[in-house]
Amino acid sequence: MFPAAALISLCLLAVASAQQVGTQVAENHPTMSSQKCTTSGGCSTLSTSVVLDGNWRWLHSVNSTTNCYTGNTWDATLCPDPTTCTKNCALDGADYGGTYGISTSGNALTLKFVTGANIGSRVYLMANSTNYQMLQLLNQEFSFDVDMSNLGCGLNGALYLSEMPSDGGLSATNTAGAKYGTGYCDSQCPQDLKFIGGVANIVNWTGSATDSNSGAGSFGTCCNEMDIWEANKNAAAYTPHVCSSNGKCSGTQCGNGADRPNGICDKDGCDFNSYRMGDQTFLGPGLTVDTSKKFTVVTQFVAASGTLTEIRRLYVQNGKVINNSNTNIAGISPAVNSITDTFCNQQKTAFGDTNSFETRGGLAAMGQALGRGMVLALSIWDDHAAGMYWLDSTYPTNASTSSPGVTRGPCSTTSGDPKTVEASEGSNSVTFSNIKFGDIGSTLSSTGVVSSTSSSPPTNPTQPSGPSGGNLAVWSQCGGQEWTGSGTCVSGTTCTVLNPFYSQCIPN
Ligand SMILES: *[C@@H]1O[C@H](CO)[C@@H](O)[C@H](O)[C@H]1NC(C)=O
Ligand SMILES: *[C@@H]1O[C@H](CO)[C@@H](O)[C@H](O)[C@H]1NC(C)=O
Ligand SMILES: *[C@@H]1O[C@H](CO)[C@@H](O)[C@H](O)[C@H]1NC(C)=O
Ligand SMILES: *[C@@H]1O[C@H](CO)[C@@H](O)[C@H](O)[C@H]1NC(C)=O
Ligand SMILES: *[C@@H]1O[C@H](CO)[C@@H](O)[C@H](O)[C@H]1NC(C)=O
Repeated sequence: MFPAAALISLCLLAVASAQQVGTQVAENHPTMSSQKCTTSGGCSTLSTSVVLDGNWRWLHSVNSTTNCYTGNTWDATLCPDPTTCTKNCALDGADYGGTYGISTSGNALTLKFVTGANIGSRVYLMANSTNYQMLQLLNQEFSFDVDMSNLGCGLNGALYLSEMPSDGGLSATNTAGAKYGTGYCDSQCPQDLKFIGGVANIVNWTGSATDSNSGAGSFGTCCNEMDIWEANKNAAAYTPHVCSSNGKCSGTQCGNGADRPNGICDKDGCDFNSYRMGDQTFLGPGLTVDTSKKFTVVTQFVAASGTLTEIRRLYVQNGKVINNSNTNIAGISPAVNSITDTFCNQQKTAFGDTNSFETRGGLAAMGQALGRGMVLALSIWDDHAAGMYWLDSTYPTNASTSSPGVTRGPCSTTSGDPKTVEASEGSNSVTFSNIKFGDIGSTLSSTGVVSSTSSSPPTNPTQPSGPSGGNLAVWSQCGGQEWTGSGTCVSGTTCTVLNPFYSQCIPN
């Protein structure tokens, strides 16, 4: 039961943002390295960077500094119709730190909530200056560190995948492309985007009633989305969302209001939020996963014969692996700590929710998108549609807290009012760092959390085969139930059984 605007930041800079390129401000992508890991070869560093989404950018006349869009209104002279508007307007470069509160250092990215007139931001991971980094995570693992100790109720520090084009949809009418953060889409079919498919989204554009910087056009842009992390220090969820197709939507297809069950995408998703799933003491300040400090989030997209069957979650804090919490909900039986189709079906029934996830293909459909490749988005936002109550509070806010699935976190049902959070929590921020992806087990083993104190080394029945000969590098997998590779480790290390599924080359 996620609100219509679940992943759309409706808060944009007043002087925002075409799809041509302006020359007033130079565009320099802040660098943030990431790592690609393999079971046999360890991790190698990628020279990645981040780019600000086009919707936050200054959009002005191609020939002057006259705004094409001010507040939530288009300039009628420059933008009398979509084609003319697209021709007349240009997206400009961004002052990441000064205007948007976005900074990077080494492998870390910090997003500040309010900076001057700007509220929230959304960036994408780039492979180089012109293309997004494509992540193909089917039967792979993704990990990152998060510090959200300074992120309170009503806010969302999100890290997720959307099935966007790697060049940002570069075309004859979109000459800006990924370098300027174009081509966004997600499973909420956002209609607040000023350009979709290289055309201005100005037909019937309506300013938001509560957000002076945002509005919505007739068209939305839908695609598969995997929310690896939506969280603040009080609650966290991971949620696959699938669509029956990707692309531009209009009318019923966009799934607004009563059309929600009939839209192209599954806006609700199949979420695993530990608090909602019955463990209210698992994640939070001072709890098992202590959100007053940094920790590592590991997500494993386990596939059998090329089909996604399970999305597992592990945490690492203070050098120890922490298994995800188990469900404690009548109707989810046996208790589980990961997302499978069985879990999704049982959860939707137990909570009385419409199962839009399974009717659009469920985990298999999510796996196909992960296999094709998706773009990594990182954002900080507040929620004009539903106060983030679906994440950290009681939702629907008027429902009985004793109804299954209604309580999602400890925040009050008034804590997420955007007016309040923007005024009182403007200095909040989130820091994401140490992004790694690769074979299942490989990012986790690269952290070195494999000592005997570890309660749960990665279990991995679908581990890909390693090289059949040669001496395996330190931390490599060297055995396990379905392991067919070498069992010989480089000198100075010993192949050590960690559990029936996983043996590893551990330093002597
Ligand atoms: C920009 O300048 C070009 C070349 O002078 C002209 O053709 C075009 O109409 C101008 N566009 C706007 C929006 O002023
Ligand atoms: C950028 O990355 C893309 C995708 O990996 C690649 O096709 C392209 O050639 C690269 N461009 C440059 C300038 O390196
Ligand atoms: C714009 O609004 C008018 C009047 O409500 C409607 O007839 C038309 O279909 C809308 N256009 C689009 C593209 O939705
Ligand atoms: C909650 O509010 C909605 C919208 O006003 C209403 O339709 C619904 O019946 C209310 N539910 C309860 C349990 O009061
Ligand atoms: C964590 O999960 C693994 C694999 O399911 C299991 O072997 C281990 O006992 C669990 N650890 C704890 C502390 O529950």
